Amino acid sequence: MIKKIGILTSGGDSPGMNAVIRSIVINSIKNNFKVYGIFYGYLGLFKNKIKHLKYKDINNIIDKSGTFLGSSRFTKLKKYKIKKKEIIKIKRKIDILIVIGGEGSYKGALKLNNMGLPCITIPGTIDNDVPGTDYTIGFSSALEIIVQYIDNIKYTLLSHKRILILEVMGRKCNDLAIYSYISSENCFIITKKNFNINNLIKKIKKNKNKYLIIIITENITNIKKLSIKIQKKTNIETRFTSIGYIQRSWKPTAFDRILAFKMGDYSIKLIKKNKTGKCIGIKKNKIIHYDIKNIIKK
Ligand code: F6P
Repeated sequence: MIKKIGILTSGGDSPGMNAVIRSIVINSIKNNFKVYGIFYGYLGLFKNKIKHLKYKDINNIIDKSGTFLGSSRFTKLKKYKIKKKEIIKIKRKIDILIVIGGEGSYKGALKLNNMGLPCITIPGTIDNDVPGTDYTIGFSSALEIIVQYIDNIKYTLLSHKRILILEVMGRKCNDLAIYSYISSENCFIITKKNFNINNLIKKIKKNKNKYLIIIITENITNIKKLSIKIQKKTNIETRFTSIGYIQRSWKPTAFDRILAFKMGDYSIKLIKKNKTGKCIGIKKNKIIHYDIKNIIKK
């Protein structure tokens, strides 16, 4: 019978991570489970940075971005050779581990699960790039700041009749770019698939709007060089900017808080049914789960 639950947040922080920790703590206590926070991701697990969490620890965190448990990248665990005796030691403290993070964090959970530490994962990243879910916790909040940024920056662009290249996060996933493009006007979008400089210049020349925002996902091209090229070929003043880490640090939207609550609640329901090695997602507005091993393979 599972009695002690550990929680850690891993990878890039995302708005709503605190809300999901809160949900897990509330639902654990309600079900008479003891719940432990593990600090700074997987590293904290092996360095014994564990604290028993109570109601008072989760007070006043629902609206805060970041993660009060701290985070670290899975790459650090990847290099680490986990010993069987370390798993045995961890299992003296917790029976099951809930990991909140992106795909890399899922890989870490699968590794630990296969070594005998039962794990459940919850998708927490702004990138919306985790398999097995339509939305990740943090995506809605990051999208909100991008859209607000576009709504506000356009007046400066309009005043100068300028083009702005706006780089958004997403790693290799274009969802933040696509959804913010759909939510805004007078924008073009560049994805890896459609990126063709000559076509882009042609489209800009045909553009009749008094300003233009070109939304682009990070890691596609050098936006400084691109802006110089566009200005040279079109004779229109072109600037560039990256929104940067505020996308991760934005106040969690109500959507992310609700998603966090539902997924946290669902994780405890899975634990009550002794279902482990699972990842939680939302599909067609319904909270669901899959085997982590099947999702990672895909
Ligand atoms: O995964 C979230 C994310 O913000 C990506 O969008 C971005 O590519 C990356 O993390 C940045 O990572 P770091 O925090 O290591 O600079």
